[in-house]
Amino acid sequence: MCNKPGKEKFYITTPIYYPSDNLHIGHAYTTVIADAIKRAKVQRGYDAYFLTGTDEHGQKIERKALENGKTPKEYVDGIVANIKTLWKLLDISYDDYIRTTDERHIKVVQAIFKQLYEQGDIYKSEYEGLYCTTCEAFFTELQLKDGCCPDCGKPVEKTKEEAYFLRLSKYQDWLIDYIEANPDFIQPVSRKNEMLSNFLKPGLNDLAVSRTSVNWGIPVSFDEKHTVYVWIDALSNYISALGYGSEDTTLYDRYWPADLQLVGKEIIRFHTIIWPIILHALQLPLPKQVFGHGWLVINGQKMSKSLGNVIDPVVLANKFSSDAVRYYLLRAVPFGSDGQFTYESFLTLINADLSNTLGNLVSRTVAMIEKYFDAKVQVPNTYLDVDKVLINLALATPAKVTARVNELLIPQALEEIWNLCDHCNKYIDMTEPWVLGKTDEGKERLKTVLYVLAESIRFIAVLLAPFLPNTPGKIFTQLGINETNTQNLDSLQNFGILKEDTVVQKGEAIFPRVDIKAEIAQLNPEKKEETKPSKPEKKQDENKANTIGIDDFAKVEMKVGKVITCEKMENSDKLLKFVLDMGSEQRTILSGIAKYYNPQDLVGKHLIVVTNLAPRKMRGVESQGMILSALHMDDNNEEVLTVLTVADAVKNGAEVG
Ligand code: MSP
Repeated sequence: MCNKPGKEKFYITTPIYYPSDNLHIGHAYTTVIADAIKRAKVQRGYDAYFLTGTDEHGQKIERKALENGKTPKEYVDGIVANIKTLWKLLDISYDDYIRTTDERHIKVVQAIFKQLYEQGDIYKSEYEGLYCTTCEAFFTELQLKDGCCPDCGKPVEKTKEEAYFLRLSKYQDWLIDYIEANPDFIQPVSRKNEMLSNFLKPGLNDLAVSRTSVNWGIPVSFDEKHTVYVWIDALSNYISALGYGSEDTTLYDRYWPADLQLVGKEIIRFHTIIWPIILHALQLPLPKQVFGHGWLVINGQKMSKSLGNVIDPVVLANKFSSDAVRYYLLRAVPFGSDGQFTYESFLTLINADLSNTLGNLVSRTVAMIEKYFDAKVQVPNTYLDVDKVLINLALATPAKVTARVNELLIPQALEEIWNLCDHCNKYIDMTEPWVLGKTDEGKERLKTVLYVLAESIRFIAVLLAPFLPNTPGKIFTQLGINETNTQNLDSLQNFGILKEDTVVQKGEAIFPRVDIKAEIAQLNPEKKEETKPSKPEKKQDENKANTIGIDDFAKVEMKVGKVITCEKMENSDKLLKFVLDMGSEQRTILSGIAKYYNPQDLVGKHLIVVTNLAPRKMRGVESQGMILSALHMDDNNEEVLTVLTVADAVKNGAEVG
């Protein structure tokens, strides 16, 4: 039932994912965080509802399906099954999974489009752009390669296409006022400022929201040669899934507006400009908050299949457990900023926090109760000051975790729990149970020590549940706790619930230690190195710690080089081999950008080269520098990489700086 009397509702969404046959750990990031927040809300008595799904229309999907000899629907069906398997593996407790190919969604999108058209917020006009007749697609200047179609290489023409437009311009001033009056609407604040200064204040153009050249999309109901622009289609999922505009609006009435819409930073502008304008035009309330989180990056770059730097969450979850992967994602990345993924940091965290701090605490405590008290918990009569300090910390921790979750400070919420674990371990060092166990008098005191530890561990297990859903069960089994009323958050209002003679039982290590070197060697074979990007992208959330002085910058020597030859490296689908004229010398440089360019298109270009980088051998060839490039998103939100060029008039070897 959706309408739970007395319970406050909490509606949380992730973006709907593009159907990709291997979602990477960066994708899992949004979903794991949303899941942890949802579970934490449920644990705190909320009627929480969590939506995820897939964004299945568009030309790219149509093309991929064709390549695979399938219809688009057959193609996406297979992928959606895999995505659902991944979410199951990571214990994602979504309440609904919306697909933009669902009939329930299609109807709503068509109705929204029609309503906006009828009330004049959508109008028919012409879209002018650079059109490739062979590929039947529009491109922007930036996307062209040598002025030609980036896909087939043929010339493009300035063409007009009939299209429907959404009047974004009409709502620009309203949206600026709304964002300024509702400081929580876009979070973190840096993203709010970015939206205002980069997009809204310079002025919004009306947006083309239909295409006649894309077949795999939702037809405009009153003009069927048009399909609805993918972002209008996709954004509507957040209400179509709730039955908005359908015969049964119970879920919509209960849960909309969303309390929290989590999105990656690159798609925040769609969610905080187009989405609120659609909702406002439909006279619907806006989500209470859109939070744009940072990326999980590798060598400073966003993970992407085309860069070959993706980390597979399936491999990690199968090898090290779903809870280990979740812990890393929730703990290691400051929420809102980018976080650097390395196997080493992942494995180090498993050993340090999960295996040592938490795992050892549990196994030592259980082992001591087995050894000294025949595996039976003993309830003490009195507590000393040293006990009370730990007891008070345990009692104070639930409220601290709740506060952190409410502030969306998820790593800090886990930090509070680990602070309690650390204090338990210190308490063992201070009370020295192994000394107490030697005498009868000591054993009397030991009863209290082990009870305080066991009860504190119960607190830890209960608090961990939203974040690491499989771990509490393992701890409860070892502690012999099987009544659910000692496993919920309410049970943490009192310290001392564990019953006399509860039988503990040592089990397997809840997080076995990993051999970091051996695992890295297995997980990170040498060949991955060559896919390293040419230069780490500058972090958007750059803070002072990341800045460099002019002296550091001056160490980098950059020069202009003209491409004499450029060819694909044998045995590599990633690398291009360049020979460049650097004025006084020639240089051979390997660059992992083969996915983005036809080698011939680069010949004759004047590129910017870092010339004082230590040479590096790849595939038996020495690379003598690095070619600078920019990784960015095109209008379809696809990743594009463009090498940095300078005008032909600039002499080869000219210094850049
Ligand atoms: N289909 C659109 C969203 C439409 S919502 C109306 C889309 N899909 S996506 O599959 O590309 O991305 C889904 C989510 O994964 C986004 O929030 C995106 O930011 C997130 N991530 C993808 N790569 C990521 C990292 N490397 N790190 C963190 N999050 C990343 O965008």
